[in-house]
Amino acid sequence: MADITTSQHGQWSSRFAFILAATGSAVGLGNIWKFPYIVGQNGGGAFVIVYLLCVIGIGIPIMMAETLLGRRGRHSPINTMEILTTEAKADPNWHYLGWMGVVAGFLILSYYSVIAGWALAYTGKAFFGSFFGENPAGIASIYDNFIASPWQQVFWHTIFMTATMAIVVRGVESGLEKSARFFVPILFVLLVLLVGYAMTKETYYFQGLHFLFSPDFSKLSGDSVLVAMGQAFFSLGLGMGAIMMYGAYLPKDISIAKTSIIIAAADTVVALLAGIAIFPIVFANGLTPADGPGLIFKTLPIAFGNMTGGWIVGILFFVLLFFAALTSAVSLIEPAVTWLIEARKVDRYTACLWSGLLTWALGVAVALSFNVWSGFKLFNQNLFGLVDYVTSNLMLPIGGFCIAVFVGWIMKQEDSESELALSQPHFYKMWKFSVCYIAPAAVFLVFLHVVGVL
Ligand code: TRP
Repeated sequence: MADITTSQHGQWSSRFAFILAATGSAVGLGNIWKFPYIVGQNGGGAFVIVYLLCVIGIGIPIMMAETLLGRRGRHSPINTMEILTTEAKADPNWHYLGWMGVVAGFLILSYYSVIAGWALAYTGKAFFGSFFGENPAGIASIYDNFIASPWQQVFWHTIFMTATMAIVVRGVESGLEKSARFFVPILFVLLVLLVGYAMTKETYYFQGLHFLFSPDFSKLSGDSVLVAMGQAFFSLGLGMGAIMMYGAYLPKDISIAKTSIIIAAADTVVALLAGIAIFPIVFANGLTPADGPGLIFKTLPIAFGNMTGGWIVGILFFVLLFFAALTSAVSLIEPAVTWLIEARKVDRYTACLWSGLLTWALGVAVALSFNVWSGFKLFNQNLFGLVDYVTSNLMLPIGGFCIAVFVGWIMKQEDSESELALSQPHFYKMWKFSVCYIAPAAVFLVFLHVVGVL
């Protein structure tokens, strides 16, 4: 059963295509919008170190595990898990792992699309010169007015969801693969350009670097460690079946280990560059790093409004943020779409229509939680905060935990060994040790700490 060599839904045309698509999935709002603001909220350098440890010790091994599951199953995560549980003669309940992933994908995309909508709206603002000569207070009030308008929130969210589904409907090669080819490299160049701008703010530049890289562990709480781990899962796009799905389209002869390391490295570099570009602007303008989800929308426009060439750089930046979000969004919904095709025997168009509509409806609720429904709070969070917390900090780590346990303890050793085909036996042993012990134990300990047992 697991000898299937290609997926019925298509296949990446080359190793490079897979790396681009998976990097496209990894690099997104998580790196540029979320990473800087949660670093800000969690005190800086110490958090960055914990984050990096999570990427190396948990993220890369789980990325390899998730990709190999996908390539072995060659179906949507739900059916892949069913096929592999049968193959391993394991408890059939394991296929609920696929289900949890699909649900997590819907939930994440519902708010992801709203924030990506902000990027689109800000492209328009940049184009019409709304940031010219504005001081930090002016930029903040542009943001506040924008967030307060339910119509604008729903409008931009709708446009983003439509764009996402327009790519997904085209399928693996002409949709997912093509869209990833250009955007990630250009985004990278732009970020370097913004870092260059940040460097001109000399003292603030060093203050920014200091904030990002000099650790003060007294600022680290148990919850910060959970947030760092959740962010590692979120940013690498792990724990919900997205990379499992991308693995299903991966040709047999491509090395899963090498590609995983390349993808994780690219993702981390982009997140750090975003931090290096943003914090000097935060400090230079007397803003607070702990400002929350609005951080990049309140800082970068100050730079665009006041630097030479800021008009064009501003437009380019938000356009590329939009494209980076787009190449991530497609991976969040692809598992649900392929499952509908497999299980309901519908065509891709119908599958896209229904899954897209469901996500859109959830997203409308999230969009309204910033304004008309902002009074509705659970655990002191609005709906956006709640969905974000539950998915990133609970569902993704639990999904990752189960993936590690399944691959480490349930799947036959010879199967994972042949799928990874590592050149050195001790690489395999290191990886196996991580998915059997380090990754599950780390997730478990962090959870124990957060619920107060540890
Ligand atoms: N990694 C993306 C980002 O950083 C978001 C994303 C894409 C994602 N696919 C995922 C998050 C799967 C969790 C799971 O913006």
